[in-house]
Amino acid sequence: MTAKIIDGKAIAKEVRAEWKVRADALKARGITPGLAVIIVGEDAASKVYVGNKVKACAELGLYSEHIALPADTSQDTLLAKIAELNANHAIHGILVQLPLPKHIDSDKVLKAIAPHKDVDGFHPMNVGALVTGNPLLRPCTPYGAMKLLEKIGVAIEGKHAVIVGRSNIVGKPMALMLLQMNATVTICTSKTRNLAHHTRDADILVVATGKPRMITGDMIKPGAAVIDVGINRLPNGKLVGDVDFDSAKEVAGYLTPVPGGVGPMTITMLVANTVEAAERSAQ
Ligand code: GUN
Repeated sequence: MTAKIIDGKAIAKEVRAEWKVRADALKARGITPGLAVIIVGEDAASKVYVGNKVKACAELGLYSEHIALPADTSQDTLLAKIAELNANHAIHGILVQLPLPKHIDSDKVLKAIAPHKDVDGFHPMNVGALVTGNPLLRPCTPYGAMKLLEKIGVAIEGKHAVIVGRSNIVGKPMALMLLQMNATVTICTSKTRNLAHHTRDADILVVATGKPRMITGDMIKPGAAVIDVGINRLPNGKLVGDVDFDSAKEVAGYLTPVPGGVGPMTITMLVANTVEAAERSAQ
C-alpha cells in the first residue's frame, strides 16, 4: 500500500479562507481581530515560528503586535506586559512563545493570560473546559491535527487512536479531542513497554515525541491514518518528523509529511482562535 500524503498546506489554505470570511464579517462591524505575540530571548526556532504567526495574521487582515523582549527580561516585567494586553481592547488573543528563559516560571506566566484571550488554550480554565467536553479555546496543534482528519474524511468514532507523547501542548489535548469524538484512546509515553504493540493496533496514530524518525513502517497498522507532529532538524540540516516517512508511506493509509503537514495547520488554528476570541468579545 502507498499512503495518501496529506497536503497540510492546501488544507490550511482552505481552512484559512473559511476563517477569513468570519474575520471579514467582524471587520464589517468595526472589530478587527487582534493578536499579540510575545517572544522573550533569541531562540532561533522560536523567532521563525513567531514570524510565521505574525505573517499569517497579516495575510488574513488581522491586527497583530509582535513584542520581542530581551532574554534577561524579568518575570515581573513580562507579567506587567501581559496585564497591559489583558486590558487592551484591540487585542483579542495573547500568545507567549515557549520555551521561556529558565529564570521565568512558565506556569505562572500562562496563568496570567486572561482565559478568554488565551489563544494557545494552555490556561487551566481552557484545559478544564476541554476535559469536561465544552472546549472554548483549544491548543492549536492538536486542533489543527483534528481539522486535518476531518478534512480528509477520516471517521473517528469507534476507532482506536494511539498517541505517542503526552505533552500539555500536543499529546494530552489531542487525546481529549479524540475522546470527545468517541475514539478509544491510548496514550503512550517514553516509558511505555512494547510501544510497537500499541502503535500497530492504531487506526489513527498521532506521534509527538521529538525523536526523529522513531516510528517506522513495521510499527504501523496497514491503512492507518498517521499524523506526524514532530519537526526535527538533522545534523545535515534536513527537517524530518518523528515518523520515518519512507517506510511509513508503504504501510499507512494516510500520512502527513514534514514539513508541510501539521505545521501549516497549527498557525491556521491560531488565527482561527483569534477570530473566535474576537467573535466572543463582540457578543
Ligand atoms: N512552542 C512550541 N509550540 C508552541 C505552541 O504551540 N505555543 C507556544 N506559545 N509556544 C510553543
